[in-house]
Amino acid sequence: MKILAIETSCDETGLAIVDIEQPDASAASITVLAESLLSQALLHAEYGGVYPSLAKREHSKNLGPLFVELLTQANMLTQTQTPAIGKDSIGVIKELLEREPELFIHLATLLAQIEKPPLDAIAVTHGPGLEPALWVGVNFAKALSHAWNIPIIPMNHMEGHLAAGLARPLDDTHFTITQPKLPALALLLSGGHTELVLIKNWFDGTHTNSYEKIGSTRDDAVGEAFDKSARLLGIPYPGGPEISKLAAHARAENLSQPYSLPRPMLTTNDYDFSFSGLKTAVRTLVESIGTPTEKQKKQIARELEDAITEVVVAKTMRAIEEFGVRSLIVGGGVSANAYIRTALSDALAHYEAFDLYLPTPSLSTDNGLMIGFAAALHTLPTQTPSELAANGNLVLG
Ligand code: KG4
Ligand code: ZN
Repeated sequence: MKILAIETSCDETGLAIVDIEQPDASAASITVLAESLLSQALLHAEYGGVYPSLAKREHSKNLGPLFVELLTQANMLTQTQTPAIGKDSIGVIKELLEREPELFIHLATLLAQIEKPPLDAIAVTHGPGLEPALWVGVNFAKALSHAWNIPIIPMNHMEGHLAAGLARPLDDTHFTITQPKLPALALLLSGGHTELVLIKNWFDGTHTNSYEKIGSTRDDAVGEAFDKSARLLGIPYPGGPEISKLAAHARAENLSQPYSLPRPMLTTNDYDFSFSGLKTAVRTLVESIGTPTEKQKKQIARELEDAITEVVVAKTMRAIEEFGVRSLIVGGGVSANAYIRTALSDALAHYEAFDLYLPTPSLSTDNGLMIGFAAALHTLPTQTPSELAANGNLVLG
Protein backbone atom coordinates (compact mmCIF):
# COMPACT_ATOMS: atom_id res chain seq x y z
CA MET A 1 0.00 0.00 0.00
CA LYS A 2 1.44 3.35 -1.03
CA ILE A 3 0.88 6.00 1.61
CA LEU A 4 1.45 9.72 1.54
CA ALA A 5 2.39 10.87 5.07
CA ILE A 6 1.97 14.47 6.23
CA GLU A 7 3.36 16.03 9.43
CA THR A 8 2.81 19.69 10.40
CA SER A 9 2.24 19.58 14.16
CA CYS A 10 5.07 21.90 15.14
CA ASP A 11 7.84 23.68 13.25
CA GLU A 12 8.81 20.96 10.78
CA THR A 13 6.95 20.49 7.50
CA GLY A 14 7.43 16.79 6.82
CA LEU A 15 6.21 14.70 3.89
CA ALA A 16 6.95 11.15 2.86
CA ILE A 17 5.67 8.49 0.49
CA VAL A 18 6.09 4.97 1.79
CA ASP A 19 5.17 1.59 0.41
CA ILE A 20 3.96 -0.66 3.23
CA GLU A 21 3.73 -4.43 3.02
CA GLN A 22 1.98 -6.12 5.92
CA PRO A 23 2.10 -9.90 5.61
CA ASP A 24 0.30 -10.10 8.97
CA ALA A 25 -0.48 -7.91 11.98
CA SER A 26 2.86 -8.59 13.67
CA ALA A 27 5.18 -7.26 10.97
CA ALA A 28 5.50 -4.62 8.30
CA SER A 29 8.12 -3.87 5.65
CA ILE A 30 8.42 -0.27 4.66
CA THR A 31 10.08 1.09 1.55
CA VAL A 32 10.66 4.83 1.47
CA LEU A 33 9.75 6.07 -2.02
CA ALA A 34 10.30 9.74 -1.25
CA GLU A 35 10.85 12.08 1.65
CA SER A 36 10.99 15.84 2.11
CA LEU A 37 11.44 17.85 5.24
CA LEU A 38 11.76 21.55 5.92
CA SER A 39 12.60 22.89 9.35
CA GLN A 40 11.46 26.35 10.40
CA ALA A 41 13.67 26.30 13.51
CA LEU A 42 15.83 29.25 12.40
CA LEU A 43 12.75 31.42 11.87
CA HIS A 44 11.38 30.64 15.33
CA ALA A 45 14.76 31.15 17.01
CA GLU A 46 14.21 34.91 17.45
CA TYR A 47 11.03 34.18 19.45
CA GLY A 48 12.85 31.72 21.70
CA GLY A 49 10.37 28.96 20.86
CA VAL A 50 7.82 27.95 18.26
CA TYR A 51 5.45 30.79 17.35
CA PRO A 52 2.16 29.10 16.29
CA SER A 53 0.89 31.59 13.70
CA LEU A 54 4.31 31.77 12.05
CA ALA A 55 4.42 27.95 11.99
CA LYS A 56 1.00 27.86 10.32
CA ARG A 57 2.02 30.45 7.71
CA GLU A 58 5.25 28.65 6.89
CA HIS A 59 3.53 25.27 6.55
CA SER A 60 1.03 26.70 4.10
CA LYS A 61 3.78 28.43 2.13
CA ASN A 62 6.03 25.39 1.96
CA LEU A 63 3.71 22.41 1.62
CA GLY A 64 3.01 23.06 -2.09
CA PRO A 65 6.65 23.18 -3.27
CA LEU A 66 7.63 20.32 -0.94
CA PHE A 67 4.81 18.19 -2.33
CA VAL A 68 6.00 18.76 -5.91
CA GLU A 69 9.52 17.79 -4.84
CA LEU A 70 8.14 14.70 -3.14
CA LEU A 71 6.09 13.49 -6.11
CA THR A 72 9.06 14.10 -8.41
CA GLN A 73 11.34 12.05 -6.14
CA ALA A 74 8.78 9.22 -6.07
CA ASN A 75 8.42 9.32 -9.86
CA MET A 76 4.75 10.11 -9.39
CA LEU A 77 4.58 13.48 -11.11
CA THR A 78 3.09 12.88 -14.56
CA GLN A 79 1.96 15.86 -16.62
CA THR A 80 -1.33 15.46 -18.45
CA GLN A 81 -3.70 17.42 -20.70
CA THR A 82 -6.65 15.70 -19.05
CA PRO A 83 -6.28 16.06 -15.28
CA ALA A 84 -8.45 13.94 -12.99
CA ILE A 85 -9.82 17.01 -11.28
CA GLY A 86 -13.03 18.77 -12.34
CA LYS A 87 -14.22 22.40 -11.86
CA ASP A 88 -16.61 21.41 -9.02
CA SER A 89 -13.78 19.79 -7.14
CA ILE A 90 -11.66 22.93 -7.36
CA GLY A 91 -14.50 24.82 -5.65
CA VAL A 92 -14.59 22.32 -2.78
CA ILE A 93 -10.81 22.42 -2.43
CA LYS A 94 -10.89 26.21 -2.36
CA GLU A 95 -13.30 26.02 0.55
CA LEU A 96 -11.19 23.41 2.35
CA LEU A 97 -8.12 25.62 1.98
CA GLU A 98 -9.95 28.84 2.71
CA ARG A 99 -7.48 29.74 5.44
CA GLU A 100 -4.45 28.67 3.42
CA PRO A 101 -4.84 30.73 0.20
CA GLU A 102 -1.20 30.33 -0.80
CA LEU A 103 -1.45 26.58 -0.50
CA PHE A 104 -4.68 26.58 -2.49
CA ILE A 105 -3.04 28.41 -5.42
CA HIS A 106 -0.11 25.99 -5.43
CA LEU A 107 -2.34 22.97 -5.24
CA ALA A 108 -4.96 24.11 -7.75
CA THR A 109 -2.22 24.85 -10.29
CA LEU A 110 -0.64 21.46 -9.71
CA LEU A 111 -3.89 19.50 -9.79
CA ALA A 112 -4.79 21.05 -13.14
CA GLN A 113 -1.61 19.70 -14.72
CA ILE A 114 -0.95 16.23 -13.39
CA GLU A 115 -2.35 12.72 -13.31
CA LYS A 116 -3.61 11.18 -10.09
CA PRO A 117 -0.54 9.58 -8.47
CA PRO A 118 -0.76 5.90 -7.50
CA LEU A 119 -1.41 6.56 -3.79
CA ASP A 120 -3.70 4.33 -1.71
CA ALA A 121 -4.10 6.46 1.41
CA ILE A 122 -3.04 9.69 3.09
CA ALA A 123 -1.78 9.50 6.68
CA VAL A 124 -1.87 12.88 8.40
CA THR A 125 -0.99 14.03 11.92
CA HIS A 126 -4.13 15.47 13.52
CA GLY A 127 -2.70 15.86 17.05
CA PRO A 128 -1.23 16.48 19.48
CA GLY A 129 0.59 19.71 18.65
CA LEU A 130 -0.06 23.32 17.78
CA GLU A 131 -3.59 23.46 16.45
CA PRO A 132 -3.09 26.20 13.83
CA ALA A 133 -0.14 24.23 12.47
CA LEU A 134 -1.97 20.89 12.60
CA TRP A 135 -4.91 22.31 10.65
CA VAL A 136 -2.71 23.11 7.65
CA GLY A 137 -1.72 19.46 7.28
CA VAL A 138 -5.25 18.24 7.93
CA ASN A 139 -6.76 20.63 5.38
CA PHE A 140 -4.09 19.75 2.84
CA ALA A 141 -4.89 16.04 3.34
CA LYS A 142 -8.60 16.73 2.96
CA ALA A 143 -8.02 18.66 -0.26
CA LEU A 144 -5.91 15.89 -1.79
CA SER A 145 -8.34 13.25 -0.57
CA HIS A 146 -11.19 15.08 -2.27
CA ALA A 147 -9.25 15.75 -5.47
CA TRP A 148 -8.12 12.18 -5.99
CA ASN A 149 -10.64 10.22 -3.96
CA ILE A 150 -8.06 8.74 -1.60
CA PRO A 151 -8.94 7.84 2.03
CA ILE A 152 -7.33 9.63 4.97
CA ILE A 153 -5.83 7.84 7.98
CA PRO A 154 -5.64 10.26 10.96
CA MET A 155 -2.43 9.73 12.89
CA ASN A 156 -1.26 10.61 16.39
CA HIS A 157 2.06 12.49 16.43
CA MET A 158 3.28 10.63 19.53
CA GLU A 159 2.54 7.30 17.88
CA GLY A 160 4.72 8.57 15.05
CA HIS A 161 7.62 9.06 17.48
CA LEU A 162 6.97 5.61 18.91
CA ALA A 163 6.93 4.05 15.43
CA ALA A 164 10.18 5.83 14.52
CA GLY A 165 11.74 4.17 17.56
CA LEU A 166 10.39 0.78 16.64
CA ALA A 167 11.38 0.86 12.96
CA ARG A 168 14.62 -1.00 12.29
CA PRO A 169 16.57 0.30 9.28
CA LEU A 170 17.78 -2.32 6.79
CA ASP A 171 19.39 0.37 4.64
CA ASP A 172 18.64 4.03 3.83
CA THR A 173 15.26 3.31 2.28
CA HIS A 174 14.10 0.02 3.82
CA PHE A 175 12.75 -0.47 7.32
CA THR A 176 10.98 -3.23 9.18
CA ILE A 177 8.62 -3.02 12.10
CA THR A 178 8.01 -6.20 14.05
CA GLN A 179 5.97 -6.75 17.16
CA PRO A 180 8.12 -6.03 20.23
CA LYS A 181 8.15 -8.37 23.22
CA LEU A 182 5.19 -7.48 25.41
CA PRO A 183 4.55 -5.78 27.68
CA ALA A 184 6.49 -2.97 26.04
CA LEU A 185 7.10 0.50 27.40
CA ALA A 186 7.35 3.61 25.25
CA LEU A 187 9.43 6.50 26.55
CA LEU A 188 8.45 9.53 24.53
CA LEU A 189 10.68 12.56 24.97
CA SER A 190 9.90 15.56 22.83
CA GLY A 191 9.68 19.33 22.87
CA GLY A 192 6.00 19.25 23.79
CA HIS A 193 5.57 15.94 25.64
CA THR A 194 7.23 13.63 28.11
CA GLU A 195 5.35 10.37 28.48
CA LEU A 196 5.70 6.80 29.65
CA VAL A 197 3.20 4.63 27.81
CA LEU A 198 2.62 0.95 28.48
CA ILE A 199 1.79 -1.33 25.57
CA LYS A 200 0.18 -4.53 26.81
CA ASN A 201 -1.43 -5.70 23.58
CA TRP A 202 -0.36 -5.53 20.00
CA PHE A 203 -2.48 -4.05 17.19
CA ASP A 204 -3.80 -7.34 15.88
CA GLY A 205 -7.37 -6.19 15.37
CA THR A 206 -8.63 -7.82 18.58
CA HIS A 207 -7.58 -5.13 21.04
CA THR A 208 -8.74 -1.55 20.95
CA ASN A 209 -6.93 0.07 23.86
CA SER A 210 -3.35 -0.89 23.25
CA TYR A 211 -1.83 2.16 24.91
CA GLU A 212 -1.97 3.04 28.59
CA LYS A 213 -0.29 6.26 29.63
CA ILE A 214 1.26 5.63 33.05
CA GLY A 215 3.14 8.88 33.46
CA SER A 216 3.69 12.29 31.93
CA THR A 217 5.10 15.68 32.78
CA ARG A 218 3.11 17.90 35.10
CA ASP A 219 4.55 21.08 33.59
CA ASP A 220 7.35 21.55 31.06
CA ALA A 221 8.32 18.79 28.66
CA VAL A 222 11.86 17.47 28.73
CA GLY A 223 12.71 19.24 25.45
CA GLU A 224 11.47 22.48 26.96
CA ALA A 225 13.80 21.99 29.93
CA PHE A 226 16.70 21.81 27.47
CA ASP A 227 15.47 24.66 25.26
CA LYS A 228 14.49 27.11 28.02
CA SER A 229 17.68 26.49 30.00
CA ALA A 230 19.67 26.91 26.80
CA ARG A 231 18.00 30.26 26.22
CA LEU A 232 19.06 31.38 29.69
CA LEU A 233 22.61 30.60 28.61
CA GLY A 234 22.19 32.64 25.43
CA ILE A 235 21.82 29.61 23.15
CA PRO A 236 19.13 30.02 20.45
CA TYR A 237 16.10 27.71 20.04
CA PRO A 238 16.19 24.72 19.82
CA GLY A 239 19.00 24.58 22.36
CA GLY A 240 18.85 20.84 23.21
CA PRO A 241 21.55 19.68 20.78
CA GLU A 242 23.91 22.54 21.75
CA ILE A 243 23.46 21.86 25.49
CA SER A 244 24.39 18.27 24.78
CA LYS A 245 27.54 19.33 22.91
CA LEU A 246 28.61 21.66 25.75
CA ALA A 247 27.98 18.91 28.30
CA ALA A 248 30.08 16.48 26.26
CA HIS A 249 32.93 19.03 26.24
CA ALA A 250 32.69 19.39 30.03
CA ARG A 251 33.05 15.61 30.41
CA ALA A 252 35.82 15.29 27.81
CA GLU A 253 37.78 18.15 29.40
CA ASN A 254 37.17 16.68 32.84
CA LEU A 255 35.91 20.01 34.16
CA SER A 256 35.02 20.26 37.84
CA GLN A 257 31.34 20.10 38.81
CA PRO A 258 30.78 23.15 41.01
CA TYR A 259 27.02 23.46 40.45
CA SER A 260 24.18 21.29 41.59
CA LEU A 261 20.71 21.36 40.10
CA PRO A 262 17.64 19.55 41.50
CA ARG A 263 16.45 16.11 40.28
CA PRO A 264 12.70 16.86 40.28
CA MET A 265 10.44 13.98 41.33
CA LEU A 266 13.35 11.53 41.22
CA THR A 267 12.09 9.49 44.14
CA THR A 268 8.32 10.05 44.00
CA ASN A 269 6.31 6.90 43.88
CA ASP A 270 4.80 7.47 40.42
CA TYR A 271 5.82 7.80 36.77
CA ASP A 272 5.26 11.52 36.40
CA PHE A 273 7.86 14.14 35.63
CA SER A 274 8.26 17.84 36.37
CA PHE A 275 10.87 19.95 34.65
CA SER A 276 9.86 23.56 35.23
CA GLY A 277 11.72 23.70 38.57
CA LEU A 278 14.89 22.71 36.80
CA LYS A 279 14.60 25.63 34.40
CA THR A 280 13.93 27.96 37.35
CA ALA A 281 17.01 26.59 39.14
CA VAL A 282 19.09 27.27 36.01
CA ARG A 283 17.72 30.82 35.92
CA THR A 284 18.65 31.41 39.57
CA LEU A 285 22.11 29.96 38.98
CA VAL A 286 22.74 32.07 35.86
CA GLU A 287 21.53 35.20 37.65
CA SER A 288 23.86 34.52 40.55
CA ILE A 289 26.80 34.17 38.13
CA GLY A 290 25.95 37.22 36.00
CA THR A 291 27.44 36.48 32.59
CA PRO A 292 28.61 32.86 32.50
CA THR A 293 31.96 32.19 30.83
CA GLU A 294 32.25 29.47 28.18
CA LYS A 295 33.65 27.14 30.85
CA GLN A 296 30.74 27.85 33.19
CA LYS A 297 28.26 27.24 30.35
CA LYS A 298 29.82 23.82 29.80
CA GLN A 299 29.62 23.05 33.51
CA ILE A 300 25.97 24.12 33.75
CA ALA A 301 25.06 22.21 30.58
CA ARG A 302 26.63 19.07 31.99
CA GLU A 303 24.82 19.36 35.30
CA LEU A 304 21.53 19.98 33.47
CA GLU A 305 21.99 16.98 31.20
CA ASP A 306 23.00 14.84 34.19
CA ALA A 307 19.90 15.92 36.15
CA ILE A 308 17.49 15.28 33.27
CA THR A 309 19.09 11.95 32.41
CA GLU A 310 19.04 10.73 35.99
CA VAL A 311 15.34 11.44 36.39
CA VAL A 312 14.35 10.02 33.01
CA VAL A 313 16.36 6.84 33.48
CA ALA A 314 15.21 6.29 37.10
CA LYS A 315 11.51 6.66 36.28
CA THR A 316 11.80 4.47 33.22
CA MET A 317 13.65 1.73 35.11
CA ARG A 318 11.08 1.81 37.89
CA ALA A 319 8.27 1.32 35.36
CA ILE A 320 10.19 -1.52 33.71
CA GLU A 321 10.51 -3.31 37.06
CA GLU A 322 6.96 -2.63 38.20
CA PHE A 323 5.24 -3.79 35.02
CA GLY A 324 7.60 -6.60 34.04
CA VAL A 325 8.38 -4.78 30.80
CA ARG A 326 10.31 -6.75 28.15
CA SER A 327 11.05 -4.05 25.61
CA LEU A 328 11.63 -0.31 25.77
CA ILE A 329 10.85 1.87 22.76
CA VAL A 330 12.31 5.38 22.90
CA GLY A 331 11.19 8.21 20.64
CA GLY A 332 10.86 11.98 20.24
CA GLY A 333 13.36 14.76 19.57
CA VAL A 334 15.22 14.38 22.86
CA SER A 335 15.85 10.71 22.09
CA ALA A 336 18.55 12.00 19.72
CA ASN A 337 20.50 12.89 22.86
CA ALA A 338 23.61 10.69 22.92
CA TYR A 339 24.05 10.86 26.70
CA ILE A 340 20.47 9.75 27.43
CA ARG A 341 20.74 6.97 24.84
CA THR A 342 23.94 5.65 26.45
CA ALA A 343 22.51 5.96 29.97
CA LEU A 344 19.46 3.90 28.99
CA SER A 345 21.60 1.27 27.24
CA ASP A 346 23.88 1.05 30.29
CA ALA A 347 20.95 0.76 32.72
CA LEU A 348 19.52 -2.11 30.67
CA ALA A 349 22.82 -3.81 29.87
CA HIS A 350 22.40 -6.62 32.39
CA TYR A 351 18.73 -7.28 31.53
CA GLU A 352 18.44 -10.59 29.76
CA ALA A 353 16.04 -11.13 26.86
CA PHE A 354 15.19 -7.44 26.90
CA ASP A 355 15.01 -5.33 23.74
CA LEU A 356 15.87 -1.65 23.61
CA TYR A 357 14.63 0.27 20.57
CA LEU A 358 16.25 3.63 19.87
CA PRO A 359 15.36 5.65 16.78
CA THR A 360 17.92 6.50 14.13
CA PRO A 361 18.99 9.96 15.45
CA SER A 362 17.83 11.72 12.28
CA LEU A 363 14.35 10.22 12.79
CA SER A 364 14.15 11.26 16.46
CA THR A 365 13.01 14.78 15.69
CA ASP A 366 9.80 15.51 13.78
CA ASN A 367 9.60 14.27 10.20
CA GLY A 368 7.09 12.92 7.72
CA LEU A 369 8.47 9.41 7.58
CA MET A 370 7.51 8.65 11.18
CA ILE A 371 3.87 9.25 10.30
CA GLY A 372 4.21 6.69 7.52
CA PHE A 373 5.76 4.29 10.05
CA ALA A 374 2.86 4.89 12.45
CA ALA A 375 0.42 3.99 9.69
CA ALA A 376 2.27 0.68 9.35
CA LEU A 377 1.47 -0.22 12.96
CA HIS A 378 -2.18 -0.73 12.15
CA THR A 379 -4.20 -2.76 9.76
CA LEU A 380 -4.84 0.06 7.38
CA PRO A 381 -8.40 1.39 7.16
CA THR A 382 -9.77 2.27 3.74
CA GLN A 383 -12.27 4.96 4.69
CA THR A 384 -11.82 8.51 5.86
CA PRO A 385 -13.53 9.11 9.21
CA SER A 386 -16.55 11.34 8.69
CA GLU A 387 -15.33 14.17 10.93
CA LEU A 388 -11.63 14.84 10.85
CA ALA A 389 -10.36 17.74 12.92
CA ALA A 390 -7.02 18.87 14.31
CA ASN A 391 -6.81 18.26 18.04
CA GLY A 392 -3.92 19.93 19.83
CA ASN A 393 -4.46 17.79 22.93
CA LEU A 394 -4.98 14.43 21.26
CA VAL A 395 -4.07 11.59 23.61
CA LEU A 396 -2.42 8.31 22.62
CA GLY A 397 -5.01 5.64 23.39
O1 KG4 B 1 9.99 15.64 18.82
P1 KG4 B 1 10.50 16.97 18.43
O2 KG4 B 1 11.24 17.12 17.11
O3 KG4 B 1 9.36 18.03 18.40
C1 KG4 B 1 8.21 17.93 19.20
O4 KG4 B 1 7.34 17.10 18.88
O5 KG4 B 1 8.20 18.68 20.19
O6 KG4 B 1 11.44 17.44 19.63
C2 KG4 B 1 12.12 18.64 19.59
C3 KG4 B 1 12.91 18.77 20.88
C4 KG4 B 1 13.49 20.15 21.11
O7 KG4 B 1 13.18 20.54 22.42
C5 KG4 B 1 15.00 19.92 20.96
O8 KG4 B 1 15.80 20.79 21.73
C6 KG4 B 1 15.12 18.50 21.45
O9 KG4 B 1 14.00 17.85 20.89
N1 KG4 B 1 16.36 17.86 21.01
C7 KG4 B 1 17.36 17.50 21.86
C8 KG4 B 1 18.38 16.94 21.06
N2 KG4 B 1 17.96 16.94 19.77
C9 KG4 B 1 16.72 17.51 19.75
N3 KG4 B 1 17.48 17.64 23.19
C10 KG4 B 1 18.59 17.19 23.78
N4 KG4 B 1 19.62 16.64 23.09
C11 KG4 B 1 19.55 16.49 21.75
N5 KG4 B 1 20.57 15.93 21.08
ZN1 ZN C 1 7.53 15.56 17.92
